Amino acid sequence: MTQQAPVITIDGPAGSGKGTIAKLVAKKLGWHILDSGVLYRLTAYAALQKNISFDDEDGLAQVARTLDVVFADGEILLEGQKVTEAIRSQECGNAASKVAACGKVREALLQRQRDFRQAPGLVADGRDMGTVVFKDAPVKIYLTASAKERAKRRLNQLKEIGINVSLTRLIREIEERDDRDMNRSEAPLKPAEDAICIDSSDMSIEQVVNKVIVFIDK
Ligand code: CDP
Repeated sequence: MTQQAPVITIDGPAGSGKGTIAKLVAKKLGWHILDSGVLYRLTAYAALQKNISFDDEDGLAQVARTLDVVFADGEILLEGQKVTEAIRSQECGNAASKVAACGKVREALLQRQRDFRQAPGLVADGRDMGTVVFKDAPVKIYLTASAKERAKRRLNQLKEIGINVSLTRLIREIEERDDRDMNRSEAPLKPAEDAICIDSSDMSIEQVVNKVIVFIDK
């Protein structure tokens, strides 16, 4: 049997810093990266463009299954159209969370995510990387932070790409999204039983990266 490439999973709620930490850890190790949230964001974006109702589970699953996406030089092309920034909006994140509650969509995206597992290794970030997609990962991290701290981080991220929203609105949306992601029946957001939980509220990015790396070296 060929040995599968190792995977480190980093799960956690919106704004917990998963994406940033995953990128830095992958860079340090020279491993591949999977930002699984992008696939849900793309599915929501494509469904909105095609006027598919979010109640139409089969329609949504069809969109997810046939996503024509290219990741190239830091850009994301959906059906040839650049959507790198558009899919990062708050609206698209909230729509992604609605689409992600659909079991058929999750199933349609499962293999596409597993295909990212390639040598020398993969750092996978999302909500269910350690609980569903890469259950056998040797290192699983669950990263969190208070809702207020996460909203502040998200505010800065959005500012950087020219999107202005109020902190109060962001806190409310983050709490709503947490509630939806944690309480859905399909792959709810929760730490895997064997996950290492890190609360990053009072930690710098560098401190979190160093903490994660320690577990990998073991
Ligand atoms: O960056 P942020 O944490 O705000 O969002 P994201 O990781 O891009 O994910 C957007 C939405 O997709 C989340 O709110 C989840 O509902 C969903 N998602 C999921 O269900 N499973 C994953 N593995 C990744 C994202």
